[in-house]
Amino acid sequence: MANKYEQFRSQPRLPKFAVPKTYNIFLKPDLTDCKFSGTVDVTLDIVSDTKFIVLNAADLSVDPKSVRFTSEKGSLEAKEVELLEEDEILVLEFDQNLDIGGGSVLSMRFNGTLNDQMKGFYRSKYEHNGEKKNMAVTQFEPADARRCFPCWDEPACKATFKITLEVPSELVALSNMPVVEEKVNGDLKTVCYQESPIMSTYLVAAVVGLFDYVEDHTPDGIKVRVYCQVGKADQGKFALDVAVKTLGLYKEYFATPYSLPKLDMIAIPDFSAGAMENYGLVTYRETALLYDEKNSAAANKQRVATVVAHELAHQWFGNLVTMEWWTHLWLNEGFATWVSYLAADSLFPDWKIWTQFLDESTVGLRLDGLSESHPIEVEINHACEIDEIFDAISYHKGASVIRMLQSYLGAEVFQQALAKYIKRHACSNAKTEDLWAVLEEESKEPVNKLMNSWTKQQGYPVISVSLKDNKLEFDQRQFLSSGSPGDGQWIVPLTLACGSYEAKKSFLLDKKSQTIDEPSSKWVKINVDQAGFYRVKYDEQLSAKLRSAIESKSLSAMDRYGILDDSFALSMAGQLPLSSLLTLTGAYREEPEYTVLSNLITVSSKVASIVADADSKLLDNVKMFFINVLQYSAERIGFDCKQGESHLDALLRGELFATLALFGHEETLKEASRRFQAFLEDRNTPLLPPDIRRAVYVAVMKSVTASNRSGFDSLLKVHRETDLSQEKTRILGALGSCSDPDIILEVLNFLLTPEVRSQDAVFGLAVSREGREVAWNWFKNNWEHISNTWGRGFLITRFVSAVVSPFSSYEKVEEVEEFFATRSKPSITRTLKQSIERVQINAKWVETIKNEKGLADCVQELAYRKY
Ligand code: BES
Ligand code: ZN
Repeated sequence: MANKYEQFRSQPRLPKFAVPKTYNIFLKPDLTDCKFSGTVDVTLDIVSDTKFIVLNAADLSVDPKSVRFTSEKGSLEAKEVELLEEDEILVLEFDQNLDIGGGSVLSMRFNGTLNDQMKGFYRSKYEHNGEKKNMAVTQFEPADARRCFPCWDEPACKATFKITLEVPSELVALSNMPVVEEKVNGDLKTVCYQESPIMSTYLVAAVVGLFDYVEDHTPDGIKVRVYCQVGKADQGKFALDVAVKTLGLYKEYFATPYSLPKLDMIAIPDFSAGAMENYGLVTYRETALLYDEKNSAAANKQRVATVVAHELAHQWFGNLVTMEWWTHLWLNEGFATWVSYLAADSLFPDWKIWTQFLDESTVGLRLDGLSESHPIEVEINHACEIDEIFDAISYHKGASVIRMLQSYLGAEVFQQALAKYIKRHACSNAKTEDLWAVLEEESKEPVNKLMNSWTKQQGYPVISVSLKDNKLEFDQRQFLSSGSPGDGQWIVPLTLACGSYEAKKSFLLDKKSQTIDEPSSKWVKINVDQAGFYRVKYDEQLSAKLRSAIESKSLSAMDRYGILDDSFALSMAGQLPLSSLLTLTGAYREEPEYTVLSNLITVSSKVASIVADADSKLLDNVKMFFINVLQYSAERIGFDCKQGESHLDALLRGELFATLALFGHEETLKEASRRFQAFLEDRNTPLLPPDIRRAVYVAVMKSVTASNRSGFDSLLKVHRETDLSQEKTRILGALGSCSDPDIILEVLNFLLTPEVRSQDAVFGLAVSREGREVAWNWFKNNWEHISNTWGRGFLITRFVSAVVSPFSSYEKVEEVEEFFATRSKPSITRTLKQSIERVQINAKWVETIKNEKGLADCVQELAYRKY
């Protein structure tokens, strides 16, 4: 529709007639009626001749009479105040041009709703002494500050913030900065916070509710607190300890201290992301902040530590130095992810977290192997496109190319350059090129040229290597999981180890192919320790040598991981026969390392499910083979935890037994059932420690049928009883393992009941192969409700990918396309295309397996192999 403000519409960014300097914000949430009212006074500079001020606002009602522009020369009332909902902008028109210069003030009054969408200013629910209560919480990233107060809601529009909250006097009210003044007036109190340093709107935060806390200080006097539900303060101690230590580490690493006087971290019962790095007031899901000595698993502990380390990294990378625009989101997320591993490694060296980092790379490689992927630096034209790029490309590929670069330049130069970058751009914004510039200055290497090939172009190469006449030949080609050739080219930091890690070579492969002399006849491992973001395909002869090197334990854990992962990807893409992949997995039977085994588990589960679709007659043998392979570790590790055992053994136990249960391993199923019974009789039984609970729940559900459903009912009961979020999600994640379609439908319907918080429903979408058709039908039947409940945030994308991607037929592709033909919307476009591409890749893989000669014999031989 034509609008008289057409000139301001459909623009990716606001016109910059006015530049905000300081926001004075007053907010009064009403927790009973779920509304809020507020005022904002923005001190600004008018920088060009204009009668207009255009800023962001959405879902707010702005009182037109209250809009005033006050300069030295007096005060003007706005002539027109129009909120363009679709564009999320507020256009203010005045009678005359506004005075150019600084120091004028724009003020207005507004009202809004404390919504249930987990974005903007929203309400979260909790119970206190058996009474249901509401709390008010903000979540502004990427572009929802505009739903709380009118503002220039772009990362580059940094300003200072003076916040005041008026709240019931018995509640805790927190914001980014410490309190400067608190006035109690009857039932209400007015809390004023110190003015913040300059920061972006997406980092502004407020939380109002009842909380307990634990507190500590850093050596330089920064007050650190963890807030959680009343009565759970003890569960905050672990995160508190991690936070205090991590602040110290980052201060040293970035050579810049934490910039605020306090840091609060708070657990929010309804929270759509995992955590949010608001400056000085970091918000978390309960599962990502709270650690309960008795009921949390090792995996929960690691999650808490890495999430805290990630969010605190943002206090420098993101908050102090902010991306100039969302195109550079990866600078925030890729970096915070990578840096969080530095912190975790330093705090918990026995977690071998850098080996676990390979899972990050793998997730990145999987998504980026799709033609529907996107470059790390992605163009953003509308706010609604931003949510979808908080994805594996920004996080996992982003973190992986940083690791690649660090390993190429060396850790020391890298750190010096980062410290310089932080100093140079502190309290300001930066683009990807700005980072390359300091790295280039410090290292004298052509960083910009090298990295452009990784951040401006989607995808990555597979390097084919062959050995001929004492020469190694390298050839790069874009890798696509579909098996189709892509036409990208990269500058690849190639590394190779030949026969030992002492003789490491490296060079930049900057053309399509290259040959080097290699007279040795030993094994050759390319991409040493998987530091590069690419895959490698070896010729027959080199592959055979690597297989023996795995068995003789000559390779590093990271390299063993890489060989398996690349082989799996190549097999999926039709470039390696499944029989070769299966034979290779046999070489991992005695694998000692957690992360490698964990990948072996992932690979074997995926192979089993594709074989089920391709040739179900092979399935029993394939499962028997995988059970044989995994059993070696299962026997080593046992069901019971050992006194003083390692963190990694604890992680492994859970994954191993869950997988054995899914493969139908009788002994595991029986043992799980015995332990579950003991648990039902006594919730404190030593037979069911947290690390094996998920595995046992999976086993219980695997045995549930419509006529024997007691395990399911018992799990629902445990879900209802527990007040620990980690326990609830553990159960939700296991419910779908059942093979009975009727039970699966019940599970899915349960996700839509008020018993499951909307943040958690996605955990229940992981359903068995037998359940995927039920899930698809359920999804279609409930689309309206699903779309209304989750459609305004990014959780909807998790529904689409979880329900669509497991399929493996071209008919399903058509069905899905047909269903979405009239239902797709911008916020799911990318995910939908990616999910459909995954189905196509699966379908093609199924065809390849069907046509693979000799596969049945190979599987037979492997299944009955005696060890
Ligand atoms: N900045 C993000 C939170 C976020 C995510 C805001 C998506 C808006 C949309 C935060 O720093 C983050 O990355 N959180 C992760 C956890 C982290 C440990 C990877 C998350 O929420 O999953
Ligand atoms: Zn982040």
